[in-house]
Amino acid sequence: MVEKTILVEKKKEMKEEIVDKKLLEKASQKLEEKRDEKVIVLKVEEKVEEKKQINKEISIEELPGVGAATAEKLREAGFDSMLSIAVASPGELTEIAGLTEATARKIINTARHKMDMGFVSGNELLEKRRNIGKISTSSKAFDALLMGGIETNGITEVYGEFGSSKTQIGHQLAVNAQLPKEQGGVEGMVCYIDSEGTARPERIKSMAESLKLDPIKILNNIKFIRAFNSDHQMLIINKIEDLIKNEKLPIKLVVVDSLMSHFRSEYVGRGTLSDRQQKLNKHMHDLLKLAETYNLAVYLTNQVMANPAIFFGDPTTPVGGNIVAHASSVRIYVRKGKKGTRVARVIDAPHIPDSECAFRITEEGIRDIE
Ligand SMILES: Nc1ncnc2c1ncn2[C@@H]1O[C@H](COP(=O)(O)OP(=O)(O)OP(=O)(O)O)[C@@H](O)[C@H]1O
Ligand SMILES: [Mg+2]
Repeated sequence: MVEKTILVEKKKEMKEEIVDKKLLEKASQKLEEKRDEKVIVLKVEEKVEEKKQINKEISIEELPGVGAATAEKLREAGFDSMLSIAVASPGELTEIAGLTEATARKIINTARHKMDMGFVSGNELLEKRRNIGKISTSSKAFDALLMGGIETNGITEVYGEFGSSKTQIGHQLAVNAQLPKEQGGVEGMVCYIDSEGTARPERIKSMAESLKLDPIKILNNIKFIRAFNSDHQMLIINKIEDLIKNEKLPIKLVVVDSLMSHFRSEYVGRGTLSDRQQKLNKHMHDLLKLAETYNLAVYLTNQVMANPAIFFGDPTTPVGGNIVAHASSVRIYVRKGKKGTRVARVIDAPHIPDSECAFRITEEGIRDIE
């Protein structure tokens, strides 16, 4: 009897020990994750502080016609620095702060003047371009085509028919953006806006594992959000700014997959086209502003439509018209190639000649053709 009790006690002790060990392991893993997050957060905080120092010199109250009440309204709407006002349009300020158009113009002009937003020398521009990060696609050929990868500080748009790999590239970039610079990343977190319900964490998991990364950490650093309609999609962009500015999340890549699906289904028919384009214009403007203000990469996927006006070559054209074309810094057309491969073609980029490359999609992610 006594022996049995001792045995039961011993078993209990052993069980507790195992539980303790598991708890300890979990806690140390959590601690490690937190430490990693902290390092990234600290780096970003430094950058935010630097920015604050630059903008601190002039407060928006110093602008003509901006009293305390107007300044408050402007701040609430996110116009809290000279730069944000200098790049705003009079229409935006009239709508938000209830200013007359003449006052709005005067404010913007003064902000531009104070910001010394005139010409920059070639060297200054080169210096700015030096800070641009590049995110690898995991295919050397594709990276070479893009002169290193997809760039921060701008919008990269990939368009192509169904199954051409737009979503797969988005998943791969969401993993790679988190890598250190030497490995083709920008050491940042990712916001993944999914408007079609095609984001697959299990794909991210296998892509991360193939690079010997911890899938839990990688998935932790990607904030997925499903966009339910075009208004919601637009609102999410403001929310991302909030995450960067107020919650200090070091977001370095924003994926929008896909840009046009809601806009296309909500605005049907010729009569609604100008309304749609107006809204789309604001959306693109917001995305570009986000990319340039926080030096982050925006990756957009876009659908295609048949263009009957093209008789020779591939008659597919991206949807969204000039508004999307102008805001995108780099446009890439992807299509299915021979034997299950994919072909990417750079269509419109200021620093890349029009050229193409082939790659493939594997269980591990985007890869070169062997
Ligand atoms: N685990 C995997 N292993 C290998 N190939 C895969 C895997 N998952 C997806 N693919 C390939 O990726 C293709 C789908 O690509 P993707 O979803 O990126 O297309 P898309 O351009 O986003 O299309 P859509 O316009 O429909 O959104 C599939 O047809 C398949 O060939
Ligand atoms: Mg897709």
